[in-house]
Amino acid sequence: MKLSDKAPKSGSGMTREATREPGIAALDRVRKPSRLKGLDAKTATGPGRKPDDRTAIAAPTTPRVAVIGLGYWGPNLVRNFYSVLGENLRACCDRQSQRGQFILQNYPGIRFTDDIEVILGDPDIDALAIATPVDTHYPLAKAALTAGKSVLVEKPMCSTAEQAEELVDLADRNGKVLMVDHTFVYNPAVRKMKEVVDSGQLGELLFIDSIRINLGIFQHDVNVVWDLAPHDLSIVQYLVGRAPRSLSAFGAAHAGNGIESIAYINLDFGDGLIANFHVNWLSPVKIRHTVVGGRKRSLIYNDLDPIEKVKIYDRGITVRHDDLEGRRRQLIEYRTGDIWAPHIAQQEPLRTMVTHFIDCLREHKRPMTDGRAGLEIVRILDAAQRSIKAQGGRITL
Ligand SMILES: NC(=O)c1ccc[n+]([C@@H]2O[C@H](COP(=O)([O-])OP(=O)(O)OC[C@H]3O[C@@H](n4cnc5c(N)ncnc54)[C@H](O)[C@@H]3O)[C@@H](O)[C@H]2O)c1
Repeated sequence: MKLSDKAPKSGSGMTREATREPGIAALDRVRKPSRLKGLDAKTATGPGRKPDDRTAIAAPTTPRVAVIGLGYWGPNLVRNFYSVLGENLRACCDRQSQRGQFILQNYPGIRFTDDIEVILGDPDIDALAIATPVDTHYPLAKAALTAGKSVLVEKPMCSTAEQAEELVDLADRNGKVLMVDHTFVYNPAVRKMKEVVDSGQLGELLFIDSIRINLGIFQHDVNVVWDLAPHDLSIVQYLVGRAPRSLSAFGAAHAGNGIESIAYINLDFGDGLIANFHVNWLSPVKIRHTVVGGRKRSLIYNDLDPIEKVKIYDRGITVRHDDLEGRRRQLIEYRTGDIWAPHIAQQEPLRTMVTHFIDCLREHKRPMTDGRAGLEIVRILDAAQRSIKAQGGRITL
C-alpha cells in the first residue's frame, strides 16, 4: 500500500527506504567522468541512463546543471535533467557521501561530490537544482546566486518570506534565473484547467475547494501545511492569477511532536472568490480533488483518475426575482446539463518543468514559477502558520 504521494517515480531507481541504507562505502569527494570513457550513451540501459535523442540540446548553448540533494526527490530531478541534457548534467552533490552510490550505479558519467563548495567553485556549472530539506533552501540558493549561478529550488522556496524576498532581490541584481519547482503548474491536467478557466467556460469563479489527504509520511522538519499545501496553493495561484487578500487556518498536531498533521486553510480574494484547502497526513484513504466552481459551470480535477482527470459540469443555479404580493422574492432554479472530460496529454510534469528551466536559462526568460511566485506562496504558508497558532485568527496578506 502506498503511504503517501511520495511514491518513487518510475526510473528513479531508488526508494526512500533504500536511500537510507547504511554501510555503503563512501565515494571519492569528486568522481571524475573518466569512468564513462568508451561508454556510448545511446547504448546505455537502465533507469535514466539513456538521453532522449529527440530533445538533447546542442552542446555550445546548453546550460550545465548540478543537482543538489539526492534523497527522495532529487533522483527524480536527476533522471529528468539527464534525459534532457545528457552529460551537461555535470554533477550531483549530497552531503551524505553514500548517496553517490546511486549516481555511480545509474549515471556513471556524472560526477558526484559531497562538498557543495566544489559545485559552487566550478566555472563549468551554470545552474543548481536544489532538492534538499526546506531549511537549507535559503542558504544554498543564496550561496549559488552569490557565486553567479542560476537556481531551481524545490517547493516551498524558503522557510520565511524575508528569505524569499532576499533571494528574489539577489537574483535580480545578479541577473540570474531563480525558479521554484511548483510541479503541478507543469501538470497537463492543471494546464487544461487553466485553459478552461481562461476560456470563460466556467464564468466568474466563485469558489475553489481543494483536498489533498492520505496516510502520509510525517516530515520531521515541516508540518503538513509546508509539505503539501504548496502544491494546491500554486495550482490556485496559476488558475486565478491574483493574490488572496486574507486567510484563516486551523490545524492540529497528533503525533506528539507539535508538528501539525492536519490543516484547513481558507483564502479570501476580496472579490467574492473564496478558496478552501484541506491537507492531511492522517487520512486512511488518498484523495486528491480540486473543485473549481464558476457562475456558469464548474470543474472537478481528480488527480488519481487515470483517464478523466478533469471533468466539466454544466450544472448550477439560475437566480430569478419575482414580485409577489408586493414582496421581492428570490427564486432559485437548478440547471443540470452535460458532463464532459476534455482530452489531457500524457506528459511527465517534472520533465516539462525541467525543460522550461533549461529554456529560461538559454533564453534568459522569466520562469512561469519564478522567485516572485515562490515568495507569494511562502507568504501564504507563513500567514497560515501564524493563523493556526492564533486558533484561526484572520490574517491580512
Ligand atoms: N515537487 C514535488 O512534488 C516534491 C515532492 C517531494 C519533495 N519535494 C521537495 O524536495 C525537497 C527535498 O525533499 P526530500 O523528500 O527529497 O528530502 P530528503 O530528506 O529525502 O532528501 C534531502 C537530501 O538532501 C541532502 N542534503 C541536505 N542538506 C544538504 C546540503 N547542505 N548539501 C547537500 N546535500 C544536502 C540530504 O543528505 C538528503 O539526501 C523538499 O523541499 C521537498 O519539499 C518536492
